[in-house]
Amino acid sequence: MAEAPYDLIIKGGTCLLPHPSDQGLNPRFIEQQVDIAIANGRIVKIKESINESAKQTIVANGLHVLPGVIDSQVHFREPGLTHKEDLESGTRAAILGGVTTIFEMPNTNPATTTVELFQDKLNRAKNRAHANYAFFIGAGHDNISEIGKLELMPHCSGVKIFMGSSTGSLLVEDDASLEKILGFGRRRVIVHSEDEMRLRERKHIAVDSADVHNHPVWRDVETAVSSTTRLLKIARKTGRKIHVLHVSTGEEMDILKDQKDIATVEVLPQHLTLYAPDCYDRLGTYAQQNPPIREKRHLDRIWKALLDGTVDVIGSDHAPHTREEKDRPYPSSPSGVPGVQTLVPIMLNHVHDGKLSLHRFVELVTTNPCRVFGVKNKGQLREGFDADVTIVDLKKNKTIDNSWIASKCGWTPFHGMKVTGWPTHTIVSGKLVMENDQVVLPSQGQPVNFEDTEG
Ligand code: DOR
Repeated sequence: MAEAPYDLIIKGGTCLLPHPSDQGLNPRFIEQQVDIAIANGRIVKIKESINESAKQTIVANGLHVLPGVIDSQVHFREPGLTHKEDLESGTRAAILGGVTTIFEMPNTNPATTTVELFQDKLNRAKNRAHANYAFFIGAGHDNISEIGKLELMPHCSGVKIFMGSSTGSLLVEDDASLEKILGFGRRRVIVHSEDEMRLRERKHIAVDSADVHNHPVWRDVETAVSSTTRLLKIARKTGRKIHVLHVSTGEEMDILKDQKDIATVEVLPQHLTLYAPDCYDRLGTYAQQNPPIREKRHLDRIWKALLDGTVDVIGSDHAPHTREEKDRPYPSSPSGVPGVQTLVPIMLNHVHDGKLSLHRFVELVTTNPCRVFGVKNKGQLREGFDADVTIVDLKKNKTIDNSWIASKCGWTPFHGMKVTGWPTHTIVSGKLVMENDQVVLPSQGQPVNFEDTEG
């Protein structure tokens, strides 16, 4: 018998294809019922009906076939903090949630700040990662002069700066050092923007009250605004492009909407779904994260920014901590909540509720992260592109449950939430790895390539 020409065919799904009138980097989509054939990790044919044989066929009638979802902000804790998460468990959570590619953050222990430590992460991910992966390099006071070289390492998604301290030791709090870092190198730099000096001055608010409701009072709007204002000034001065992570205030959105030539913007599902004081009443320290979840007026303004084009990317900021750690009295409780597995269902539920279109959601997690970070050959269902695919059922009703969470932390702030819209299949580098909530193949993740790196 002749060998099947394809490894996999996805048949009969409604596919979000790049709009034919736009061949550029950031196409809008058209929906078409077509078949997609995959061989050797690539999409090789997209056609109304493909009748040749394949080793495996997915019948996707009634389902939507999306370019593979990219989560460009996750903390997977390896090395050093692997009781919270590791590269295997974190990427398993990713594919169960319909995420095909992750970019992982450098605030591990030790922090990822050298060639050796970066290479160590790549070695650890090899044959263990279920999703495709890239890593950020952390900027610190000790590697400033190296940073322009470090950002060019293969599979490096870029440089990360913490302007305010959060989990881990990475911190660049002063303008002079920031200016030096932005002055070395050319790729877009990602920034956790909270003002460290103001955080130190006001820490007593958290300590004296010992009440998590005061988390957004301690880390207040001004903490975020003054930091982002300083950052933008230095970005302009040095002519360096920045990506402002997890923007949490309406006031920053008012500033960032006029800075699109230099600053791209990320928001989180948490900031689009949860708000104070409700989240702290219900979840206590399990809603504690940096920057904090704030009152509803911020949520409303972030939604407006998401719809008017100020926002470029949705990431999860997956930041797991164990229950034992989260149960410590505030503010000894660590900041951060898991999210890589819930990003797709939470956002599909917002699509179902009419808060945003499916096309806008898909753009924010596929074509846009590819544009912002210069990802090679991903983000579109197009012949020749990597075969990373997320298949979803927009009508499926489910209740998010802690028992479904694959992260080592074993909990989600969205436990008990009823959603409509769910990932049914995850295809990573041409292999079906998740089907109906089950991981069906051992790890298939590959390192991600970028336009601007060496090699
Ligand atoms: O709440 C947070 N937790 N914010 C961060 O920026 C870091 C993260 C973590 O790594 O735990």
